[in-house]
Amino acid sequence: MKIIRTVEEWKKERETFKNKKIGFVPTMGGLHAGHLSLMKKCRAENEIAVASVYLNPTQFNDKKDLETYPANFDDDVKLLESAGIDYLFAPTYTVMYPDDYKYKVIETDFSKMLCGAKRPGHFDGVLTVVMKFFNIIRPTNAYFGEKDFQQYQLLKGMVEAFFLDINLIPCPIVREENGLAISSRNRKLSAEGLAKAPKLHEILAMKKSIAEKEALLTEAGFKVDYITEYKGRLYAAAFLEDVRLIDNVNA
Ligand code: PAJ
Repeated sequence: MKIIRTVEEWKKERETFKNKKIGFVPTMGGLHAGHLSLMKKCRAENEIAVASVYLNPTQFNDKKDLETYPANFDDDVKLLESAGIDYLFAPTYTVMYPDDYKYKVIETDFSKMLCGAKRPGHFDGVLTVVMKFFNIIRPTNAYFGEKDFQQYQLLKGMVEAFFLDINLIPCPIVREENGLAISSRNRKLSAEGLAKAPKLHEILAMKKSIAEKEALLTEAGFKVDYITEYKGRLYAAAFLEDVRLIDNVNA
Protein backbone atom coordinates (compact mmCIF):
# COMPACT_ATOMS: atom_id res chain seq x y z
CA MET A 1 0.00 0.00 0.00
CA LYS A 2 1.28 3.44 -0.93
CA ILE A 3 0.78 6.28 1.53
CA ILE A 4 -0.02 9.59 -0.17
CA ARG A 5 0.28 12.87 1.72
CA THR A 6 -0.40 15.60 -0.83
CA VAL A 7 -2.80 16.36 -3.67
CA GLU A 8 0.10 16.66 -6.14
CA GLU A 9 1.43 13.17 -5.30
CA TRP A 10 -2.04 11.71 -5.78
CA LYS A 11 -2.57 13.47 -9.11
CA LYS A 12 0.64 11.93 -10.47
CA GLU A 13 -0.47 8.45 -9.41
CA ARG A 14 -3.94 8.94 -10.76
CA GLU A 15 -2.68 9.86 -14.23
CA THR A 16 -1.24 6.34 -14.56
CA PHE A 17 -4.66 4.68 -13.99
CA LYS A 18 -6.28 5.66 -17.32
CA ASN A 19 -9.94 4.65 -17.05
CA LYS A 20 -9.66 2.23 -14.17
CA LYS A 21 -12.50 1.93 -11.67
CA ILE A 22 -11.51 3.69 -8.45
CA GLY A 23 -13.19 2.85 -5.14
CA PHE A 24 -12.85 5.17 -2.16
CA VAL A 25 -13.52 4.83 1.58
CA PRO A 26 -13.04 7.97 3.69
CA THR A 27 -12.44 7.49 7.41
CA MET A 28 -11.18 9.36 10.45
CA GLY A 29 -8.95 6.47 11.60
CA GLY A 30 -9.32 4.34 14.72
CA LEU A 31 -10.22 1.61 12.27
CA HIS A 32 -12.28 -1.44 13.31
CA ALA A 33 -14.42 -4.25 11.88
CA GLY A 34 -17.06 -1.73 10.68
CA HIS A 35 -14.51 0.12 8.56
CA LEU A 36 -13.01 -3.18 7.44
CA SER A 37 -16.33 -4.30 5.92
CA LEU A 38 -16.36 -1.12 3.77
CA MET A 39 -12.72 -1.70 2.76
CA LYS A 40 -13.42 -5.27 1.70
CA LYS A 41 -16.41 -4.26 -0.42
CA CYS A 42 -14.38 -1.45 -1.98
CA ARG A 43 -11.48 -3.84 -2.69
CA ALA A 44 -13.80 -6.41 -4.31
CA GLU A 45 -15.70 -3.99 -6.55
CA ASN A 46 -12.91 -1.78 -7.96
CA GLU A 47 -9.61 -1.99 -9.79
CA ILE A 48 -7.97 0.60 -7.56
CA ALA A 49 -8.92 0.75 -3.86
CA VAL A 50 -8.27 3.99 -1.99
CA ALA A 51 -8.89 4.82 1.68
CA SER A 52 -8.34 8.04 3.54
CA VAL A 53 -7.49 8.55 7.20
CA TYR A 54 -8.05 12.13 8.24
CA LEU A 55 -9.35 13.29 11.62
CA ASN A 56 -11.36 16.19 10.27
CA PRO A 57 -11.44 18.98 12.89
CA THR A 58 -14.19 21.01 11.18
CA GLN A 59 -16.84 18.38 11.95
CA PHE A 60 -16.14 18.35 15.70
CA ASN A 61 -18.30 20.80 17.60
CA ASP A 62 -16.85 19.45 20.86
CA LYS A 63 -13.10 20.10 21.20
CA LYS A 64 -12.67 17.47 23.90
CA ASP A 65 -14.23 14.84 21.62
CA LEU A 66 -11.64 15.70 18.94
CA GLU A 67 -8.70 15.67 21.34
CA THR A 68 -9.62 12.28 22.83
CA TYR A 69 -10.54 10.59 19.52
CA PRO A 70 -9.01 7.11 19.79
CA ALA A 71 -6.91 6.54 16.68
CA ASN A 72 -3.53 4.96 16.07
CA PHE A 73 -2.05 5.52 12.61
CA ASP A 74 0.23 2.45 12.61
CA ASP A 75 -2.67 0.15 13.54
CA ASP A 76 -4.78 1.76 10.81
CA VAL A 77 -2.06 1.14 8.21
CA LYS A 78 -1.90 -2.54 9.21
CA LEU A 79 -5.66 -2.99 8.91
CA LEU A 80 -5.77 -1.28 5.50
CA GLU A 81 -2.90 -3.43 4.23
CA SER A 82 -4.66 -6.58 5.43
CA ALA A 83 -7.75 -5.49 3.47
CA GLY A 84 -5.72 -5.13 0.27
CA ILE A 85 -6.12 -1.35 -0.06
CA ASP A 86 -3.78 0.08 -2.75
CA TYR A 87 -3.53 3.70 -1.61
CA LEU A 88 -3.94 5.47 1.70
CA PHE A 89 -4.50 9.20 1.45
CA ALA A 90 -3.46 10.75 4.79
CA PRO A 91 -3.33 14.53 4.44
CA THR A 92 -2.77 17.30 6.99
CA TYR A 93 -5.06 20.24 7.76
CA THR A 94 -3.01 22.52 5.47
CA VAL A 95 -3.43 20.10 2.58
CA MET A 96 -7.20 19.80 3.09
CA TYR A 97 -7.93 23.40 4.06
CA PRO A 98 -5.69 25.79 2.08
CA ASP A 99 -8.62 28.22 2.48
CA ASP A 100 -8.65 27.70 6.28
CA TYR A 101 -12.31 26.60 5.99
CA LYS A 102 -13.54 29.86 4.52
CA TYR A 103 -15.43 27.88 1.88
CA LYS A 104 -18.09 25.44 3.04
CA VAL A 105 -20.73 23.10 1.66
CA ILE A 106 -23.92 23.65 3.65
CA GLU A 107 -27.22 21.82 3.50
CA THR A 108 -29.95 23.90 5.07
CA ASP A 109 -32.69 21.42 5.97
CA PHE A 110 -32.03 17.80 6.99
CA SER A 111 -28.55 18.68 8.30
CA LYS A 112 -30.23 20.76 11.01
CA MET A 113 -32.26 17.78 12.31
CA LEU A 114 -31.37 14.74 14.47
CA CYS A 115 -27.59 14.78 15.13
CA GLY A 116 -27.34 18.12 13.33
CA ALA A 117 -29.66 19.76 15.85
CA LYS A 118 -27.40 18.57 18.67
CA ARG A 119 -24.05 19.17 16.99
CA PRO A 120 -24.13 22.61 15.34
CA GLY A 121 -21.90 22.80 12.26
CA HIS A 122 -21.13 19.07 12.31
CA PHE A 123 -22.60 18.25 8.92
CA ASP A 124 -21.14 21.41 7.33
CA GLY A 125 -17.73 19.98 8.22
CA VAL A 126 -18.63 16.50 6.94
CA LEU A 127 -20.08 17.69 3.62
CA THR A 128 -17.20 20.09 3.02
CA VAL A 129 -14.44 17.59 3.70
CA VAL A 130 -16.10 14.85 1.64
CA MET A 131 -16.60 17.28 -1.28
CA LYS A 132 -12.87 18.06 -1.09
CA PHE A 133 -12.02 14.32 -1.01
CA PHE A 134 -14.28 13.64 -3.98
CA ASN A 135 -12.62 16.41 -6.00
CA ILE A 136 -9.12 15.20 -5.10
CA ILE A 137 -9.59 11.42 -5.41
CA ARG A 138 -12.24 11.51 -8.17
CA PRO A 139 -13.54 8.02 -7.36
CA THR A 140 -15.99 5.96 -9.40
CA ASN A 141 -17.55 4.45 -6.26
CA ALA A 142 -17.52 5.71 -2.68
CA TYR A 143 -18.50 3.61 0.35
CA PHE A 144 -20.34 4.81 3.46
CA GLY A 145 -21.76 2.97 6.48
CA GLU A 146 -25.39 3.03 7.53
CA LYS A 147 -24.20 3.42 11.11
CA ASP A 148 -24.13 7.11 10.19
CA PHE A 149 -27.40 6.96 8.30
CA GLN A 150 -28.05 10.71 8.36
CA GLN A 151 -24.53 11.35 7.05
CA TYR A 152 -25.09 8.91 4.17
CA GLN A 153 -28.42 10.55 3.28
CA LEU A 154 -26.89 14.03 3.30
CA LEU A 155 -23.96 12.94 1.15
CA LYS A 156 -26.33 11.31 -1.32
CA GLY A 157 -28.23 14.61 -1.50
CA MET A 158 -24.98 16.51 -2.06
CA VAL A 159 -23.94 14.21 -4.93
CA GLU A 160 -27.31 14.78 -6.61
CA ALA A 161 -27.44 18.54 -5.94
CA PHE A 162 -23.96 19.15 -7.40
CA PHE A 163 -24.21 16.57 -10.24
CA LEU A 164 -21.16 14.68 -8.96
CA ASP A 165 -20.45 11.67 -11.15
CA ILE A 166 -19.86 9.28 -8.23
CA ASN A 167 -21.84 6.24 -7.08
CA LEU A 168 -22.44 6.24 -3.35
CA ILE A 169 -22.67 2.73 -1.94
CA PRO A 170 -24.40 2.28 1.43
CA CYS A 171 -23.00 -0.52 3.63
CA PRO A 172 -24.90 -2.26 6.48
CA ILE A 173 -24.08 -1.57 10.14
CA VAL A 174 -21.52 -3.98 11.55
CA ARG A 175 -22.39 -4.93 15.14
CA GLU A 176 -20.77 -6.84 17.96
CA GLU A 177 -22.46 -10.18 18.69
CA ASN A 178 -24.30 -8.44 21.55
CA GLY A 179 -25.81 -5.91 19.09
CA LEU A 180 -23.57 -2.92 19.89
CA ALA A 181 -22.81 -0.96 16.71
CA ILE A 182 -19.02 -1.00 16.39
CA SER A 183 -17.53 2.48 16.73
CA SER A 184 -14.11 4.01 17.38
CA ARG A 185 -15.67 5.81 20.34
CA ASN A 186 -16.56 2.49 22.04
CA ARG A 187 -12.85 2.35 22.95
CA LYS A 188 -13.37 5.33 25.25
CA LEU A 189 -15.74 3.31 27.47
CA SER A 190 -14.66 1.58 30.68
CA ALA A 191 -15.22 -2.19 30.99
CA GLU A 192 -18.43 -1.39 32.86
CA GLY A 193 -19.58 1.04 30.17
CA LEU A 194 -18.80 -1.45 27.45
CA ALA A 195 -20.98 -4.01 29.23
CA LYS A 196 -23.90 -1.54 29.35
CA ALA A 197 -23.51 -0.12 25.84
CA PRO A 198 -25.36 -2.93 23.95
CA LYS A 199 -28.53 -1.81 25.78
CA LEU A 200 -28.76 1.12 23.37
CA HIS A 201 -29.48 -1.16 20.42
CA GLU A 202 -31.45 -3.65 22.49
CA ILE A 203 -33.85 -0.97 23.79
CA LEU A 204 -34.12 0.85 20.45
CA ALA A 205 -35.20 -2.36 18.73
CA MET A 206 -37.99 -3.09 21.26
CA LYS A 207 -41.64 -2.80 20.30
CA LYS A 208 -42.27 0.11 22.70
CA SER A 209 -43.04 3.82 22.42
CA ILE A 210 -40.24 6.38 22.15
CA ALA A 211 -41.09 7.66 25.65
CA GLU A 212 -40.77 4.14 27.07
CA LYS A 213 -37.45 3.64 25.30
CA GLU A 214 -36.14 6.92 26.70
CA ALA A 215 -37.18 5.88 30.20
CA LEU A 216 -35.54 2.46 29.86
CA LEU A 217 -32.28 3.97 28.58
CA THR A 218 -32.22 6.53 31.40
CA GLU A 219 -32.83 3.72 33.90
CA ALA A 220 -29.94 1.77 32.35
CA GLY A 221 -27.59 4.72 32.98
CA PHE A 222 -27.65 6.53 29.62
CA LYS A 223 -28.21 10.25 29.17
CA VAL A 224 -30.46 10.32 26.11
CA ASP A 225 -29.54 13.07 23.62
CA TYR A 226 -32.46 12.31 21.31
CA ILE A 227 -34.62 9.49 19.98
CA THR A 228 -36.53 10.51 16.85
CA GLU A 229 -38.40 8.67 14.14
CA TYR A 230 -37.91 10.11 10.68
CA LYS A 231 -39.06 8.60 7.39
CA GLY A 232 -39.36 5.03 8.63
CA ARG A 233 -36.13 4.97 10.70
CA LEU A 234 -35.59 5.41 14.39
CA TYR A 235 -32.47 7.45 15.12
CA ALA A 236 -30.88 7.82 18.54
CA ALA A 237 -27.91 9.34 20.31
CA ALA A 238 -27.15 8.81 23.98
CA PHE A 239 -24.26 9.54 26.29
CA LEU A 240 -22.71 6.80 28.37
CA GLU A 241 -19.80 7.89 30.59
CA ASP A 242 -19.67 11.13 28.55
CA VAL A 243 -19.16 9.12 25.34
CA ARG A 244 -21.74 9.92 22.69
CA LEU A 245 -23.05 6.73 21.08
CA ILE A 246 -25.37 6.70 18.06
CA ASP A 247 -27.49 4.02 16.44
CA ASN A 248 -30.44 3.65 14.10
CA VAL A 249 -32.92 0.88 13.34
CA ASN A 250 -35.85 0.31 10.98
CA ALA A 251 -38.89 1.88 12.65
P1 PAJ B 1 -15.67 7.42 10.49
O1 PAJ B 1 -16.51 7.62 11.70
O2 PAJ B 1 -14.24 7.01 10.63
O3 PAJ B 1 -16.40 6.38 9.58
C1 PAJ B 1 -15.93 6.09 8.29
C2 PAJ B 1 -16.99 5.24 7.59
O4 PAJ B 1 -17.14 3.99 8.27
C3 PAJ B 1 -18.37 5.93 7.59
O5 PAJ B 1 -18.97 5.77 6.33
C4 PAJ B 1 -19.10 5.17 8.69
O6 PAJ B 1 -20.50 5.16 8.52
C5 PAJ B 1 -18.52 3.78 8.53
N1 PAJ B 1 -18.69 2.97 9.76
C6 PAJ B 1 -18.23 3.25 11.00
N2 PAJ B 1 -18.63 2.31 11.88
C7 PAJ B 1 -19.37 1.42 11.18
C8 PAJ B 1 -20.08 0.22 11.51
N3 PAJ B 1 -20.11 -0.28 12.75
N4 PAJ B 1 -20.74 -0.43 10.52
C9 PAJ B 1 -20.72 0.05 9.25
N5 PAJ B 1 -20.08 1.17 8.87
C10 PAJ B 1 -19.41 1.84 9.82
O7 PAJ B 1 -17.86 8.94 9.10
C11 PAJ B 1 -16.75 9.46 9.17
O8 PAJ B 1 -15.64 8.81 9.63
C12 PAJ B 1 -16.49 10.90 8.73
O9 PAJ B 1 -17.62 11.67 8.97
C13 PAJ B 1 -16.04 11.01 7.25
C14 PAJ B 1 -17.13 10.55 6.29
C15 PAJ B 1 -14.75 10.23 7.01
C16 PAJ B 1 -15.75 12.52 6.94
O10 PAJ B 1 -14.76 13.03 7.78
